[in-house]
Amino acid sequence: MRRVVCPGSFDPITNGHLDIIGRSARLYDEVTVAVLINVEKKSLFTVEERIDILQTVTKEYPNVRVEKFHGLLVDFCRQNDIPAIVKGIRVVSDFDYELQMAQLNYRLSGVETLFMPTNPEYSFLSSSRVKEIARYGGDVSGLVPDLVHKLLIERLRG
Ligand code: PNS
Repeated sequence: MRRVVCPGSFDPITNGHLDIIGRSARLYDEVTVAVLINVEKKSLFTVEERIDILQTVTKEYPNVRVEKFHGLLVDFCRQNDIPAIVKGIRVVSDFDYELQMAQLNYRLSGVETLFMPTNPEYSFLSSSRVKEIARYGGDVSGLVPDLVHKLLIERLRG
């Protein structure tokens, strides 16, 4: 069984994330989407809400499961017998940051990191920008799954 993890905050999931998850699901037997529980960071959606959303929007991939984790990602990998992490790279600045994390994670545990170039259609996309646009009434349809679009409007505009 070839397993991989797609980790992140997913607050909320964007179409860029979903593209990486879907492409990983075509390459691996099992993809675990791991949602970071970060008590220090204020989030728009709770971890449970993010898990529900992720489960709904990845329904078409039977080999994708959604979990939460806290602490080190490599500990989660070890506990779940997952030997590799997939990370989407949008721009060169992502690579600078991700390379350091990948090397540290490998040094800590031997868990590999595989970089997947983001679909250019989504290379400008991030959860933070999506929230900002939605908060000020901008149109985020096409940037996030329809469910997320609806939930963002409900949450941010009452
Ligand atoms: O979507 P994000 O917020 O960019 O995801 C970042 C994430 C969750 C992948 C990263 O912060 C992470 O792996 N956090 C867990 C703590 C950890 O293992 N840190 C790495 C030290 S090298």
